[in-house]
Amino acid sequence: MGLMAKHALIERNATLLLVGSLLVVTIGGIVEIAPLFYLDNTIEKVDGMRPYSPLELAGRNIYVREGCYLCHSQMIRPFRDEVERYGHYSLAAESMYDHPFQWGSKRTGPDLARVGDRYSNEWHTQHLTDPRSVVPESIMPRYAFLKDKALDVKDFSTQLVANARVGVPYTPDMIANANADLRAQADPAADTTGVEARYPKAKIGDFDGNPGEVTEMDALVAYLQMLGTLVDFKTYDDGAGYR
Ligand code: HEC
Repeated sequence: MGLMAKHALIERNATLLLVGSLLVVTIGGIVEIAPLFYLDNTIEKVDGMRPYSPLELAGRNIYVREGCYLCHSQMIRPFRDEVERYGHYSLAAESMYDHPFQWGSKRTGPDLARVGDRYSNEWHTQHLTDPRSVVPESIMPRYAFLKDKALDVKDFSTQLVANARVGVPYTPDMIANANADLRAQADPAADTTGVEARYPKAKIGDFDGNPGEVTEMDALVAYLQMLGTLVDFKTYDDGAGYR
């Protein structure tokens, strides 16, 4: 039987065509998927990445609870206009400890992947309290109540344990010190050597201008201030000459 005849046979027999198509799709699928089972990790390790400190993690929970992701993405795409506006494009490793990730695609407001260090703590607190007092044309809602709400800490180690279950490398030391580290990071008068050793580059401070208590505003601003600051892009090289 010639090649054309074989082809005609397959095309005219629906069952044979189905079986043949499935065979081809299966081979294609295996070629794409099987190698992933033999890799320990599909995310390239990058210097500087560490799990969130307890205070940052608490802030992140508030970010998720308030639905900030509905207006803000956290992923800078590798396009010139994005990189010029927001900084180095986001690396997969930068969201490897995010459960769930906050990439998003809706940008009613600007991308926040590298908002850390861009403004002062006072600016963030003022902006979240009343966005239009610093950006008159802003349509962002107010979150003034965060300043008046004491952070509900409970036994914060449970949050770290939950994240550890899904692969975030929280150590027993980090878990045991969760509550102490959370309070120390929000109190410049406290002994912060422990939290700084466990979470390099953690910003210490009274974030909301109210040293008397740790509020939800403290946690949220601590989280915003660390976004995109862990990887040092002066030394990072992606091997493609892209800066
Ligand atoms: C309804 C949409 C909307 C929601 C919800 C929203 N924002 Fe915004 N956000 C904006 C807009 C629009 C801007 C730009 C104007 C401005 O700076 O206020 C902005 C700006 C910002 C900026 C300044 C970014 C920069 O680079 O200048 C930060 C930080 C921010 N938002 C944080 C948050 C946080 C945290 C939350 C959740 C508590 C939140 N936003 C919820 C719309 C929103």
